[in-house]
Amino acid sequence: MLDITDLHANIDGKDILKGLSLSVKAGEVAAIMGPNGSGKSTLSYVVAGRAGYEVTGGSIMLNGEDILAMEANERAAKGIFLAFQYPLEIPGVTTMTFLKAAMNAQRKQRGEEELTTPDFIKRVRAAADKLGVSQDMLRRPLNVGFSGGEKKRMEVLQMVLLEPKVAILDETDSGLDIDALRIVAEGVNALRSPDRAFVVITHYQRLLDYIVPDSVHILSAGRIVKSGDKELAHELEKNGYRDYVADAA
Ligand SMILES: Nc1ncnc2c1ncn2[C@@H]1O[C@H](COP(=O)(O)OP(=O)(O)O)[C@@H](O)[C@H]1O
Ligand SMILES: [Mg+2]
Repeated sequence: MLDITDLHANIDGKDILKGLSLSVKAGEVAAIMGPNGSGKSTLSYVVAGRAGYEVTGGSIMLNGEDILAMEANERAAKGIFLAFQYPLEIPGVTTMTFLKAAMNAQRKQRGEEELTTPDFIKRVRAAADKLGVSQDMLRRPLNVGFSGGEKKRMEVLQMVLLEPKVAILDETDSGLDIDALRIVAEGVNALRSPDRAFVVITHYQRLLDYIVPDSVHILSAGRIVKSGDKELAHELEKNGYRDYVADAA
């Protein structure tokens, strides 16, 4: 479903991704683990199409279609979803307004009709109830004054409503207590499906006790240096990244 081949990317002339290859099949949950500064966030931004990154080589294919030439909003419409390590606060835009704009932008790109307000509200309410997102949160400006756990619930809500093909979670577990971790994990596990792929980026094995991955890949110095199954994550937890950092240097 997502095929990344020999990807090279830099920001401000600094090479970050240096020949990264990764394939994630439909239905698969792939975990990316790696030391700080190895390029995990950069990978997620480059796949999502965030401005400021220059891709100098390689390809990113989504279901056989090259997405590198597409703008971020086109990629989102094709089904790429990125949950940020640090969710943005948007003062002045209520959460409901944001959700409606995001859903309708995606529908427009896909050539679908805009949602009617009652239909939109029905969908949001149903998903919010399941995730424990309160009506009060939906009325407040997006993420402003939300606790860490509330921001995570909000991201999972967005993921549920946007029904992505490929969902990338960038260290969405950082700073989370166990309850918030469970919310994220339950959200992901509920959305696991044969026609959807997940890329779960995490520094720690702990999240993978809740979201059990099909594959684990170690990112070091801008490349995937080792791939394995979930046992690889346990091995990392025991031995740290030492061996792989040395390999890449
Ligand atoms: N805007 C930027 N300008 C210059 N260097 C950056 C920028 N963003 C990230 N980097 C550098 O790129 C490398 C990879 O960063 P990042 O992708 O955030 O790593 P990770 O998410 O694995 O911790 C780091 O060395 C970081 O300092
Ligand atoms: Mg990061």
